[in-house]
Amino acid sequence: MSRIAVLPNAEALHEEAATRLRESALTAVRERGRFAVALSGGSSPKGVYEALGKLEGVPWEGVHLFWGDERCVPPDHPDSNFGMAWAALSLDLPHEQVHRMRGELGPEAGAAHYASELEVFFDGPVVFDLVHLGLGPDGHVASLFPGQPTLEATEPVVSSFPNEGLSPQVARISLSLPTIGAARAVQFLVTGEAKASVAARALEGDPRLPASRVAGERVSWLLDEAAARGLSL
Ligand code: 6PG
Repeated sequence: MSRIAVLPNAEALHEEAATRLRESALTAVRERGRFAVALSGGSSPKGVYEALGKLEGVPWEGVHLFWGDERCVPPDHPDSNFGMAWAALSLDLPHEQVHRMRGELGPEAGAAHYASELEVFFDGPVVFDLVHLGLGPDGHVASLFPGQPTLEATEPVVSSFPNEGLSPQVARISLSLPTIGAARAVQFLVTGEAKASVAARALEGDPRLPASRVAGERVSWLLDEAAARGLSL
């Protein structure tokens, strides 16, 4: 059963998510010497990364930043998930701690490059300490879209293309469901009334939604009150 927390508004959710990430990082660095987190793309997490960049007490010396998915655009492109998070964090982290997906390489080459980056870093099973996920209007997570064969992929990183109607209509690189599912913790960040119905369906386990396949003890949902409107809590 996934755990759910409802925050009064998006700003409160941003602060809560940033604080929770700091606590997870402190524990991971204390216990394992490093903290590997996969950041989310989309617009919802931007406020979280802005809050995180300003937060005191984050053990940045042990933090390794990864991404859950990326659009196949250069890192300085307005649609880049790396670009969004990096600008929001506005940190000065050594480049060896910043593991961005190379969207500019294209879907297949970018996915292969990231798979080897994960292999080198984890040197064994790919187990993130934390994976942040947004929730697409169609229930997609990272760049894993409803009805697509990538949902059944077993390799750690896949390439995909969004279903019609989703923007941006560019190829993607994404962690696979098994990689997301293997993480020590997964956290959904969901804000706004527009997500209320799909969030409720995902939490009820609607099998048509990729988000429904990310569930269990290690999964938590942070929603603001607007996004939680559809939940029968
Ligand atoms: C992406 C994201 C995607 C995102 C959802 C929600 O690259 O688009 O990783 O999975 O999290 O589409 O996006 P919003 O937060 O913008 O609604």
